[in-house]
Amino acid sequence: MPKTELDRIAYRKLLPTDHPAFEAHLLALDPESRRARFGMAANDTFLEQYATRCITLNAIIHGAFLDNRMIGAAELRPLGELFTAEAEIAFSVEADWRNCGIGTALFARTLRSARNRSFVRLYMSCLRHNAPMRALARKFAAEILVELDESVALVEAPRRTIISLLREAIDDAAARSSGHGWEWSRLWLPRRPVARPVSRVG
Ligand SMILES: CC(C)(COP(=O)(O)OP(=O)(O)OC[C@H]1O[C@@H](n2cnc3c(N)ncnc32)[C@H](O)[C@@H]1OP(=O)(O)O)[C@@H](O)C(=O)NCCC(=O)NCCS
Repeated sequence: MPKTELDRIAYRKLLPTDHPAFEAHLLALDPESRRARFGMAANDTFLEQYATRCITLNAIIHGAFLDNRMIGAAELRPLGELFTAEAEIAFSVEADWRNCGIGTALFARTLRSARNRSFVRLYMSCLRHNAPMRALARKFAAEILVELDESVALVEAPRRTIISLLREAIDDAAARSSGHGWEWSRLWLPRRPVARPVSRVG
C-alpha cells in the first residue's frame, strides 16, 4: 500500500451515525474473515443485526477510516455486570488493507481504551490457525501479558496512567476538531486510582 494512502487513514471512535459504515465494513468481510472474526460462520442478516446491536450496546468501537469508508474496526465490549473488569475485544480489517499496520494501530488504541476504563482481562476469539491475529497480539507481548490457547486469547491490560488518559483525551479532541469524535459510550467512569506510568503501551 503506498505510504501516501496510509497517511490518509484517520482513526477515531465510532459515532451512532457511523452505523451504516460499520455495517458495510462487516458485510464486506469474506466468509473466511467472518469466521475468523466471530469464531463461526456469519451470514449477512447476522451481521446487520450485530451492527445495530453494537451501536446500542455499551461497546467502544475504534474505526480506521479512509475518507468516509470504514476499512478497519476494533471493538471493546464489557463482559457481565456494570463494574466488570473483563471485556471482549475483536478486530477486523478490510482484506485489501491488511498487513500494513492498521490492525496494530487499532489494537494499541483498544488496549489504551481498556486500561483507561480499568478493564484488566480482555478476551479475544482467536482461532489456532489465525496467524495474522496471533502475530499481531504477540507484538504487544513485551508490554502486556498475552495468553493464546486453541481459540481464545487472554490479554491482561496494564493499569491506566496519566499519560494513557491524556493520550486518549488528545486523540478524541483531535477527532472532535475534525468534526467527529463524540464518545457516545461514556459508561465507564474511573474506578481505580491513576497509576504512575509503568508500561510502554500508551
Ligand atoms: C487479524 C487482522 C485484524 C490483522 O489486521 P492487519 O491490519 O493486517 O494487522 P497488521 O498489519 O497490523 O499486523 C499483522 C501482522 O501479522 C503478520 N502476518 C500476516 N500474515 C501472517 C502469517 N500468515 N503468519 C504470520 N504472521 C502473519 C504481518 O506480517 C503483520 O506483522 P508485521 O507488522 O510485524 O509485519 C486482519 O487480518 C483481519 O481482519 N482478519 C480477519 C478477522 C480476524 O481474524 N480478526 C481477529 C479475531 S477477532
